[in-house]
Parts: sequence; structure tokens; C-alpha cells
Amino acid sequence: MRIVRQIEELRRAAADFPGLAFVPTMGGLHDGHIALMHLARGTARHVAASIFVNRLQFAPSEDFASYPRTFEADCAKLRAASVDLLFAPDDTVLYPEPQAFIVEPPAIAGELEGRFRPRFFHGVATVVLKLFNCVQPRIAVFGKKDYQQLHVVRAMVRQLNLPIDVLAGETVREPDGLALSSRNSYLSATERAEAPHLQRVLQKVKNGMACGNAVRELVAAGWQPDYVEVRRRSDLGPPQGDDRELVALAAARLGGTRLIDNLEF
Ligand code: PAF
Repeated sequence: MRIVRQIEELRRAAADFPGLAFVPTMGGLHDGHIALMHLARGTARHVAASIFVNRLQFAPSEDFASYPRTFEADCAKLRAASVDLLFAPDDTVLYPEPQAFIVEPPAIAGELEGRFRPRFFHGVATVVLKLFNCVQPRIAVFGKKDYQQLHVVRAMVRQLNLPIDVLAGETVREPDGLALSSRNSYLSATERAEAPHLQRVLQKVKNGMACGNAVRELVAAGWQPDYVEVRRRSDLGPPQGDDRELVALAAARLGGTRLIDNLEF
């Protein structure tokens, strides 16, 4: 695996790998990320990944400083997954000057996650566009775990006519149902035992439980929920009477850790 840190170096290296499938990450890699690498590998001859903890998508109160940084272990996992090229820039490479041009995401970015993390999707869309411009992939792979992020990236690619196919990877779960996430490493043993409750409550919503009751159940179990909502899969709008393709989405804090999950039905 070739590791490059500068944009010019990346451009030269990418010329050796035409038709790249690209998986952007913030590192702290787990089997969910590796499944995305395998999905990418199945669609293209060459796979590129990036590791960049993007300051722009973290609010000042969030975990930018403590976000897991496990570069050597990440590289070993990417090598084992036969990734060809890793772009691992630092802040001065992607943000050599204050980032004044910011992607304005569509209104849906102000709902769900956006209600609780107001500039999050501005930061995500901006860095993803920059990474796409640097790597120039033909295919990009994102996980369904970050369901709304996938939706916003797809809308950006469509509306800005980027010549990239966006593919979605299924969420990978622990045997007890907890969605894999880099932030799971923040959980204490007690919190880890409670964490699969988030997915269980989404299963109950799928089976007809009202979202308000799901929120109350989480509160009673010690969570601080931000939201539990059912939306249309196609545009994440509120479902109308005959909509059948739905997704239940939830975000909630357990101790100091904010977890998100979703369930299509
Ligand atoms: O999902 C993530 O890890 C990040 O939001 C992404 C897409 C790499 C942008 O920083």
C-alpha cells in the first residue's frame, strides 16, 4: 500500500491506479470500515482510502481532540484488506488557509443530526468535496451507519454533477446488535452492555412502537436521546400515508458518548 501525505504526491500516485474506488475515513478503523474497503475492491481494480480527522465537522464542544487516532493499526488493517493507496494528509495540507468556501448542504441537513450538530454537514460536505477533488475517484463508498451523511453526499454528487458513483455499505454489527463505530471505544463496560439497546428500540419502532415511547424507554434506561424518528428512505422527509420504504433513525448519549444508529424497513 502506498501512503501519501501531499496532494501533488497523491495525484502522481493516483495516475498509476486508474478508475479508483475510494473510501474516505477519519481512521480509528474497525470491521465496518474494512467491509467498505471490500465493497470497494469488488467494484474496481484499485482501492484508495483516506484517513483525515476533519476539524471542520466537529463543534468546539465535541470530541475532535480525543477522536481515536490509531494510524499504525489502521495501516495494518488497510494493507490486510489490499488497499492500494492511502491518502493521509494533515491539517496544513487540506486546510493550508482558513477554509472560507464552504459547501452549503440542502435543508435536510438542518434536520435529524443537523438539529443537534448545526454545522456538521457543512463540514462533512466540504471535506468530502475536497477529498474527491484530490483523489478523483470513479466510485466512492460510504456506510449506511451514517445514513443522513450518505444522503447528503449523494445529493451533493448529483447536484454538483460530480462524475462519481456513490455506493452504500451495510452497517456491520457486534453479535449483540451494536453498530460498529470508532466512538464505541469511549464506552465503559456498563455502557457497552447497555449500548445495543439503541438498536433494540429501533426494532420496536419498526414493529409499531411510537417514537415518543422509544425516547421514553431510552431515558428510563439512562440515555439522553437527541431524537428517534421515522423518515422516508428516498429523501429523509417525514413519511406520508402510503410511503412504504422507511428508515428509523436515532441518536442518543450514553454517559459521555453520543451514538447513532438506524434501521431500514
Ligand atoms: O464518516 C466519516 O468518517 C466522515 O464523516 C468522513 C466521510 C470521512 C468525512 O470526514
